This record gives sequence, structure tokens and C-alpha cells, in this order.
Amino acid sequence: MPKAYLNNINKKETNPVLVSLRSYAEEFNVPVINEEGIKFINQVIKLKGIKTILEIGTAIGYSSINMALNNDVEITTIERDEGMFNIAKENIFDNNLENRITQIFNDALEVDESTLGSYDLIFIDAAKAQSIKFFDKYKKNLTKNGVIITDNLLFHELVVAEIRERNLKQLVAKIDRFNKFVVEQDDFDTYIYHLGDGMSLSIKKD
Ligand SMILES: C[S@@+](CC[C@H](N)C(=O)[O-])C[C@H]1O[C@@H](n2cnc3c(N)ncnc32)[C@H](O)[C@@H]1O
Repeated sequence: MPKAYLNNINKKETNPVLVSLRSYAEEFNVPVINEEGIKFINQVIKLKGIKTILEIGTAIGYSSINMALNNDVEITTIERDEGMFNIAKENIFDNNLENRITQIFNDALEVDESTLGSYDLIFIDAAKAQSIKFFDKYKKNLTKNGVIITDNLLFHELVVAEIRERNLKQLVAKIDRFNKFVVEQDDFDTYIYHLGDGMSLSIKKD
């Protein structure tokens, strides 16, 4: 399999903090971005000289800590689950990143986006059924030529599978709707890549 071949060749994460956060996520079934996805984002950050990031969906803080440890960036991250928010807070504190990662404990659809700043990158990684709402709500917070990255657009390949279970079928239909929506946004140059778990990169046209 080409993917397994490349996985063997590409270097694995060795930073003990990131290795331990990922193994915690695996042990407790917390969904976090996969290695290919976060590598892609970190390279976009470097290529584009991104300095400010808004993340929707913190979980335990894996992706925000990863971006902060690998780049000179400031991050605001939104999480609605109190348990996750508190675990992320500890992880961010343990790594002395509280000055660079600002946490917001709220539903991202309830946050007043006009109270937030402008961001070079918005990373959408929260409830998959709501991605269109997040995209529309937060696109105003992008800086000139800013980018929006959304993860899980293949939803573990289920987007292309035959599904019978009703709730899952509805969720997958909403992801499919987002995928068709995001490529049609005229004010963005978008492509959905077959990497990570399916990721869209949308560059704002200014
Ligand atoms: C896939 S996890 C985030 C993973 C994280 N970005 C990472 O890669 O390390 C999604 C998180 O989004 C949170 N979430 C879902 N819907 C949300 C919403 N409407 N507002 C804020 N957080 C939300 C969930 O509680 C969950 O912790």
C-alpha cells in the first residue's frame, strides 16, 4: 500500500510531549488530528508565515500544543466540553504555553466572533455536522489572504461508504454537503486534499 510505504519512510513524531499527548488521546479515545494532517498544517503555517490561529475544537489541546511547539504563533482555541477544556488547560500550563494559547470555554456557535481578533489561519475541527456554520460565522475573522483548514472531510472513509445506520447516515450527508459547499465559495480558492482524514484548504481571495 502506498500509504504504508510512505508512513514507513516519513519520520515519526519524536517530541516526548506530543508522543505522550497522542498516546493519552489513543488510550482515552479522544479524536485528535492524525500525524499527516498536523504535519500538513505545520508546513502551511511555515510556508505562509502564519502568526495568528483560531482553532475550533480544542479537545485535550494536542493540535494547538503541536502548532505552538513547532511555530512562532499565537493561538485562540474554542472548546464546549468542560472536561476537555480542563484537560487542555493542564496540558497547556504544563508546557508553559498559556501566554501563547488562549482558551475559550464555550460553544463556538455561541461565541460573539466580533469580540475576537483577526487570524491568518482558522482550523475547523469541531462538530462535523456544523462545519458550514463555523465556516460562515468565522470567515469574517480572517486576515487578508487568510486560510481556513477543515479536517475529517472523508470521515474515516465513511463519506464514500454504504451506510444504513440513520444518525451516521445523516452525519455523513452533512459532511458531504460541507464538501460541496466549501469548493463552491467564490471568495475562496479551495481544494480538498486526500490527506489526514480529508482536509480542505481554502485561501481567501482579497
Ligand atoms: C476532533 S476534536 C478536536 C481535536 C483537536 N483539534 C486536536 O486535533 O487535537 C473535536 C472537539 O470539538 C469540540 N466541539 C464540538 N463541537 C463544538 C462546538 N460547537 N463548539 C466548541 N467545541 C466543540 C468537542 O467537544 C471535541 O473536543
